[in-house]
Amino acid sequence: MGVSRNRTVRDAILLLLGATCMHIASNFMGPFTDNFTGDIIVNTHFDQQHPIHEDTSSSESTLTTTTIHHTVPEIHYHDDDISTTPIPPSTPSPPLHVDLFHELPETTLEAHAPGWTMFRNVYMSNGTLYIVTPKPASSFPDIQFITSTGLAAENTPENIAARMPTAENLDFITPEAAKARWGPMKPEGTNRVWSVEGNTFLFNDPNQFLDHYYHFCAELLFGAWAFWSGAHNAMVEASNPFISSAPPVHRAIFAHTGAEGWRDRPGFNSYFLRAAFPSLTVEIQRDWEDRIASTSSTGKRARAWHFDKLLLADRSASFRGEVCGSTNQRTAGEAYHHMFKAGNLTKYWWEPIRRSVLRFGGVDDYVLDKGIREAASDVATLSKRQDVVITYVSRQGVRRHLIEEDHDDLVFALGELCALNDWELNVVQAERLTKEQQVSLVAKTTILIGVHGNGLTHLILMSPTPISTVIELFYPGGFAHDYEWTTRAMGMKHFAIQNDTYYTHPVNPWVNYPEGFQGTEIPVYAPTVVKIIEDRVAGRLPNSDFFAPIERLNT
Ligand SMILES: *[C@@H]1O[C@H](CO)[C@@H](O)[C@H](O)[C@H]1NC(C)=O
Ligand SMILES: *[C@@H]1O[C@H](CO)[C@@H](O)[C@H](O)[C@H]1NC(C)=O
Ligand SMILES: *[C@@H]1O[C@H](CO)[C@@H](O)[C@H](O)[C@H]1NC(C)=O
Repeated sequence: MGVSRNRTVRDAILLLLGATCMHIASNFMGPFTDNFTGDIIVNTHFDQQHPIHEDTSSSESTLTTTTIHHTVPEIHYHDDDISTTPIPPSTPSPPLHVDLFHELPETTLEAHAPGWTMFRNVYMSNGTLYIVTPKPASSFPDIQFITSTGLAAENTPENIAARMPTAENLDFITPEAAKARWGPMKPEGTNRVWSVEGNTFLFNDPNQFLDHYYHFCAELLFGAWAFWSGAHNAMVEASNPFISSAPPVHRAIFAHTGAEGWRDRPGFNSYFLRAAFPSLTVEIQRDWEDRIASTSSTGKRARAWHFDKLLLADRSASFRGEVCGSTNQRTAGEAYHHMFKAGNLTKYWWEPIRRSVLRFGGVDDYVLDKGIREAASDVATLSKRQDVVITYVSRQGVRRHLIEEDHDDLVFALGELCALNDWELNVVQAERLTKEQQVSLVAKTTILIGVHGNGLTHLILMSPTPISTVIELFYPGGFAHDYEWTTRAMGMKHFAIQNDTYYTHPVNPWVNYPEGFQGTEIPVYAPTVVKIIEDRVAGRLPNSDFFAPIERLNT
């Protein structure tokens, strides 16, 4: 399909799209109409009732007339029902009184990959984490793969050295020495050790990367969840509405950052964290300092905190690993590759988190299930279906962006493509949409397009259907793995476009940030984007083997 360069025809169509847009936009906005601020530039779906049809075999002609009433069964509450289905009483486990224990429980390392370590019975006193063990330190991984000094990273030899952990960060101590240090002062006394019960995530990173939606949600939480659910070999099944069998996470501690340090400006980090883990308690640097101060031993005997189960995440330690350090620069890559290779991550590993966030955002289950429903149909059926939703996240309003004319051409070409196939197109400036609007849009998106940048982070909320795709636009010669690796870890396919050329796993360019990468003159040849979408939807560009070694191309 060619793209018309005829300005007159083209302008007329743009005008037409613009006119349809407001109508459909308000339709799409649904309950958010009141907040609608005119952010959707183009939103065209030629069947405005948007039949989310339940029967995948129904022919196209019936589509335009079928409107699905997604009926929710009416619930009647009778006194009887309530009395016969009582909420089961919670069975409180007795508090863990390590202070009364005769022997201090020994530390075990339950799971480990560079930058990700899950301990049982690990201790902290005066800011040092202690592994209490009769075994030699050499029977544990080198501590540089477990932790760091938590300083911000720079690429200088001095800074690399300054981030290397010492015995002040992590140390080994025998059970006898631990007892001598934190045990009773008198024979009949108790240990000076207090338990932090349940499950803790300890994030040892500075706020250098935490206050960024991509790094916080798509890297730190993505990696933490891969590691946590993998270490517990969590079951996630469609028959059990994708609720993970992994144990609950009770608290997250940000050891080196204040209350603002882990929050991003648009506010997605806190939204995401609270939606994904509603009962999680957050402690920040100040709280960690309280715990440190209360265990330091100036003038008296030291105390220690005992952590029942603790997942320690450390960015610098991940970068010392092979996967993150040498291949894809994703800290989450270490967690994911380790657990996937061990056979401990199911294909639906991320669904529990994705679904929690989308449900919180008001997305209904029918949309949530899109990926699962379509995974069952073959690609030939999919390509005939009309629920392909293309979302182009425009960055024209912010710094790094496309050449204005190339942006216009792209919008025009996508408009034509969608008109021809009766697909839905959304062209949005994310920064002008509410969180709920963004979340509900991405939940139904099949093809996400955008210039390299944070706007693509929403891909972690997409439905992984067999044709789900992320198309990332780079300045010629430019490439980075941020969205590339993450897209594949979701079971979807990624294309890096440099103007009229595309790359997809396992063939990738070298990571490179040439001059112009951050600029406002990024070219894109629209027919290349259109061709990828057509081929992908038609099943001509299937997913690659995740672990196929990357072949680098010089560009
Ligand atoms: C995989 O899960 C099993 C069962 O829970 C666990 O014993 C094992 O340590 C896990 N593997 C890894 C690499 O964590
Ligand atoms: C506590 O930690 C600080 C900082 O690491 C150190 O300077 C101090 O000597 C430690 N105090 C004791 C009593 O170990
Ligand atoms: C982009 O690709 C098109 C089509 O091949 C070409 O005409 C154009 O010159 C290219 N632009 C840049 C900046 O390379």
